[in-house]
Amino acid sequence: MITGLSHVSIVVPSLDAAAKRLAEVYGLQIGEISVNEQQGVRMAYVDLGNAKIELMEPSREDSPVAKFLVRNPRGGIHHFCVGVDSVDAARTELSGKGAQVLGDGNPQYNVHGERIAFVHPKDFLGALVEFEEHK
Ligand code: CO
Repeated sequence: MITGLSHVSIVVPSLDAAAKRLAEVYGLQIGEISVNEQQGVRMAYVDLGNAKIELMEPSREDSPVAKFLVRNPRGGIHHFCVGVDSVDAARTELSGKGAQVLGDGNPQYNVHGERIAFVHPKDFLGALVEFEEHK
């Protein structure tokens, strides 16, 4: 079902400050900044070659990521993301095994237009996992 690691996602209070820090200390450059209105995030990726770092800043006050920052004001790791062949197939398989796939049933998409879904942390060893459909 899982085909590889896509990214590790970090919530930051300021995308611009995070980009500056990564460049100054680690020589890492962020890609294009985009906004995912559905997910309520302003975001950018750092390409590490075999996987990416996803940086997310809330784009609106009721963003789930804004709530994360209330609990973790300096930011922190929010989730990791793995590739899957089919989000729907993964959802069906996991539901059959009693694991909880989050969401209201409506398809969710990342900024690249790929289908995504999240698995509840209780069903992945305490970590929030995103599934990303890679065609
Ligand atoms: Co992600």
